[in-house]
Amino acid sequence: MNKADSPKTSSEQEAVIKPRQRLEGKTSVPGDKSISHRALILSSLAKGTSTIEGLLEGEDCLKTLKIMQDLGIKIQKKGEGCYQVQGKGLKGLKEPEDVLDCGNSGTTMRLLTGLLAAQSFYSVLTGDGSLRSRPMARITRPLAKMGAKIWTREDGLAPLSIQGRELTAIRYEQPVASAQVKSCLLLAGLFSEGKTIIVEPAASRDHTERMLKSAGVQLNINNGVITLENPEKIELAPQEIKVPGDISSAAFLIAAALMVEKGNLTIENVGINPTRSGFLTALDKMQANIAIKNTREVSGEPVADIEVSSSPLKAINLSGEIIPSLIDEIPILAVLATQAKGKTVISDAEELRVKETDRLAAIAKELKRLGADISEKEDGLIIKGPTKLKGGISCKSYHDHRIAMALAVAGLACQREVIIENSKIISVSFPNFLHLLEEL
Ligand code: S3P
Repeated sequence: MNKADSPKTSSEQEAVIKPRQRLEGKTSVPGDKSISHRALILSSLAKGTSTIEGLLEGEDCLKTLKIMQDLGIKIQKKGEGCYQVQGKGLKGLKEPEDVLDCGNSGTTMRLLTGLLAAQSFYSVLTGDGSLRSRPMARITRPLAKMGAKIWTREDGLAPLSIQGRELTAIRYEQPVASAQVKSCLLLAGLFSEGKTIIVEPAASRDHTERMLKSAGVQLNINNGVITLENPEKIELAPQEIKVPGDISSAAFLIAAALMVEKGNLTIENVGINPTRSGFLTALDKMQANIAIKNTREVSGEPVADIEVSSSPLKAINLSGEIIPSLIDEIPILAVLATQAKGKTVISDAEELRVKETDRLAAIAKELKRLGADISEKEDGLIIKGPTKLKGGISCKSYHDHRIAMALAVAGLACQREVIIENSKIISVSFPNFLHLLEEL
């Protein structure tokens, strides 16, 4: 074992993951990250007081919350995950006094750029090193077609300086399925003259559309074509929003229950929106022992309880239209594939290269170090299983919450303990993850 590989002592920045045989109990996961961002933004644009229950109080959503406050919106915390937002209508935002910090959150930056491009004031959005290296041309290009004035670095990256102005609606055919781009353009479209039409190459998460509709906005959705009608008459109604548990967070606990010898877990109140639930479809194909119970609708989103217990897994092939519906779950699926019998091939997932880190490279590198048979291809991964994961090393989290959690779950099935460096990054989306893992 070389020096870089030797176990270190635990600190705030490091998590020590010990091999585990059991994982059982009943629990819930924090609120959905995507829905939480949208709840804060759309409530701010509504006329009147909205309430949000179950808001994710992770770093990313807290950045959106703070920015909406900096834009003059009163948002009060009423209890854990409970907030009251005093929306001022579509024309109620004010010029911020300072640069707006999106931290690690791509959703914050991309959605708010669409909103700010249409305001009558100047604003600047920045973020951490990871966010400042992620592509922004995918939003600045279509926004420029709408007439937006946005300055980027010479290479198209953030910080973004935005001189808000009146925009003209466009028809935009998205080159890649992206809910962030779609939502950015819908937000800009709320303020634009004419009909905003967005054509999706494959279905990406539709939380913005659902929430806009329940705020009374007329949206026409037909075969991947989204049309925002009559923008000159738009007004958003305040709402009582109950945010369901995040399926992308639940995925790590589900995988943990499948990885250990004796896993038996129920996760209550998880959002199972079909544009997000590809992970469950994939697990079904892998023959995982999983049941979806008590399906119901909460605040316009399908919700259910998920029961899972450890089971032998079968390798699968994943490609095409299912990819956007499990895009954030690919690192944890790769971990599961190390324990599945056969060759798992994941394709059409090149978007993972421009997430918080290059997730294909990061997960392939660290799982290989743990003893997995995994290789990268340009648009995905090839994993052969099952392999006994060894552990006994420190893994890098690449400043990426999902890589850190995926490796922590892999650590449960290792023969020796695993250290996750910079585990604090997990608080971006699932602040109590390590604690919960310990508890179950
Ligand atoms: C998100 C959309 C996805 C996802 C991200 C959150 C959103 O990104 O990966 O974690 O809330 O709209 P893309 O839309 O860019 O694929």
